[in-house]
Amino acid sequence: MKKTIYSLVAIAFLATVAGCSAKDDTEKKIDRLISKMTLHEKVGQMNQLSGGEWLAEAVEKGEVGSILNCTDPAELNRIQRIAVEKSRLGIPLLIARDVIHGFKTIFPIPLGLAATFDPELVEKGARIAAVEASANGIRWTFSPMLDIARDPRWGRIAEGSGEDPYLDAMMGAAMVRGYQGNGDSTSVAACIKHFVGYGAAEGGRDYNTTEITERSLRNIYFPAFKAGVDAGAMTLMTSFNANDGIPSTGNKWLVKDVLRDEWGFGGIVVTDWNSAGEMIAHGFASDLKEATEEALDAGVDMDMMSYGYISFIEELVKEKKISEKQVDNAVRNILRLKFKLGLFDNPYIDEARAGETLYAPEHLEAAKQSAIEGAVLLKNDGVLPLKDVRTLLVTGPLADAPYEQLGTWAFDGDETHTVTPLEALKKDFNVIYEPGTEYSRDKSTALVARARSAAARVDAAVVFVGEEAILSGEAHSLSDLNLQGAQSELIAAVKQSCKKVIVVVMAGRPLTIGRDLENCDAMLYSFHPGTMGGEAIAELLEGKAVPSGKSPVTFLKTAGQAPMYYNHFNTGRPNNGSETLLDDIPLKAGQTSLGCTSYYLDSGYGPLFPFGYGLSYTTFDYSNLDIDKSSYSAKDTVRVSVDLKNTGEYDATEVVQLYVRDLVGSVVRPVKELKGFQRVELKAGETKAVTFALPVADLAFWTAGNDYSVEPGDFQLWVAGDSATGDPVSFSVK
Ligand code: GLC
Repeated sequence: MKKTIYSLVAIAFLATVAGCSAKDDTEKKIDRLISKMTLHEKVGQMNQLSGGEWLAEAVEKGEVGSILNCTDPAELNRIQRIAVEKSRLGIPLLIARDVIHGFKTIFPIPLGLAATFDPELVEKGARIAAVEASANGIRWTFSPMLDIARDPRWGRIAEGSGEDPYLDAMMGAAMVRGYQGNGDSTSVAACIKHFVGYGAAEGGRDYNTTEITERSLRNIYFPAFKAGVDAGAMTLMTSFNANDGIPSTGNKWLVKDVLRDEWGFGGIVVTDWNSAGEMIAHGFASDLKEATEEALDAGVDMDMMSYGYISFIEELVKEKKISEKQVDNAVRNILRLKFKLGLFDNPYIDEARAGETLYAPEHLEAAKQSAIEGAVLLKNDGVLPLKDVRTLLVTGPLADAPYEQLGTWAFDGDETHTVTPLEALKKDFNVIYEPGTEYSRDKSTALVARARSAAARVDAAVVFVGEEAILSGEAHSLSDLNLQGAQSELIAAVKQSCKKVIVVVMAGRPLTIGRDLENCDAMLYSFHPGTMGGEAIAELLEGKAVPSGKSPVTFLKTAGQAPMYYNHFNTGRPNNGSETLLDDIPLKAGQTSLGCTSYYLDSGYGPLFPFGYGLSYTTFDYSNLDIDKSSYSAKDTVRVSVDLKNTGEYDATEVVQLYVRDLVGSVVRPVKELKGFQRVELKAGETKAVTFALPVADLAFWTAGNDYSVEPGDFQLWVAGDSATGDPVSFSVK
């Protein structure tokens, strides 16, 4: 026995030594390479440009370290050959692309992936994206986007994991693991972005100013980035916004003090597209040279498309405004990634094999499963799953829209591979198809009458509505979140002549669909579900799959409620239910008090649907919520258990959610915070004991004392199927 232990210790020691020596070996190679580089060549590594062969001359001069947006394997090999075989030092290029929710096999948009509450599946999807992308030469993706989004007017809410820090952290870390894999040739460097607070743009207007205090940064916006760093993210991107008056790309506190020094991030920090140059428009730099100095001084290694680094760093070094050591630090980070990805040993793509992995059956299956799990059932008045339906009306602008269904940032996805709902439903029903409207913004009602009359001839109708892909994503903010065009009229018209109307929404954000809910018997919200969305939706409608998705964002009644999110502070005037709404205000109300609490006269207090909400075809009962003690020390773990029963007739999965409230703090605390979740499969009638182990340390926050700590006091804890239901148990921390 002793022998075995000794040999295991020896193996572990040798492995550690080997790991360290490999690391030292790389650092030695970097040292040797840097010692040969001219200042111009060093700066060249810090320059990232968009393009391919037209960059040949600059690449041959060693003036480009990375390119983005070239995806043709043959062209990439040609430009890489110039870097490796023609430039003086032969340093390979880092090839980058926005692979945001799949490369060719397109998965649901990240907001839909978050709705799965299935990090394992999301990691698998990112791994698949990396396999397809790396086979085509892409070794750096600008994903995952970790921006907390509390305002659906912001079009980029589509690209992240919603409003909750814990879910965002779990999904972001899963994507980092998936993209980067085990470091072999399919490894693609992840890029956690946009650091930081970009989703808090005032008015939900993209690129707009943010005013986030350090405390809110640390308690809401930092956690997912810290989780991404801890998951080993190889790169990070700074954000466009100026927070508290300082553009992130020039924010030394953010990049150097927090990211590098406090969190120990050793990867590449890259700007967003010309975000260095945009510091001039911000009024933070007088010209590109000053902007360049601000960015490099803040600790940003690589300049995407401002041309500032390649144009001014040598001058700044000569003027001693920037030290060559600072340049060397940046170049070291860049070369380290190139070594880590094996680019010096294998810089070229096997063009013959580039297409082999694309749309592999197992990739499509994973994309379908993601779309199934990412669909959120918002309403079902007993019409789903479809039963006794022979003839089905399929209508609406998203019923057969292969491109729109892929959603924003689908970049290399090929719509010819999309399976639309119309295609999928035709396999199992006698389908009557009527477009209803030509596209989501189509105001014309010319086709609505045909859909209404067809609805009178069928057993059920499914109306596919939502957003064209262009209506969400970067720079695509909306001030009105109702269904565009004549979509609501179409739903109402179909409802007039059909007794079973199901609405399926494909969108990049939670739209204000309250009035449409009234005109249908069921609503399935599938965000933009990707390549296999049609198959997934058909399986859900037919009951071959049972909805399990939960909303990663709050659904508003009106855009005027924005921003609204579940983990809000209580205020000194919380809603108490006694408020008078607009329609109930008596005439000549005079100075009658209508309720002096935090609410809207016209839309009340709460959302349309809360964070974490989603129905199933079955029902679940939570009982016997219990914790192992009533009082804990900061080093303890809270042992939680609850009985979950499937009280319906379908085998199904429930996303069981754990929330906590810190009742009193040195600063005010949210009324609820998600601290855990599990996907629990239950057969019809089955009961399971579901347990959570919640370290008390997870209750730490950035306190009034400006440190992360758990404060003693009283807490409440819920385990439920969404953020708005359930009765809590109480405990205290000593
Ligand atoms: C864009 C986006 C960023 C993206 C980059 C490269 O402006 O803000 O998310 O990765 O440019 O396409």
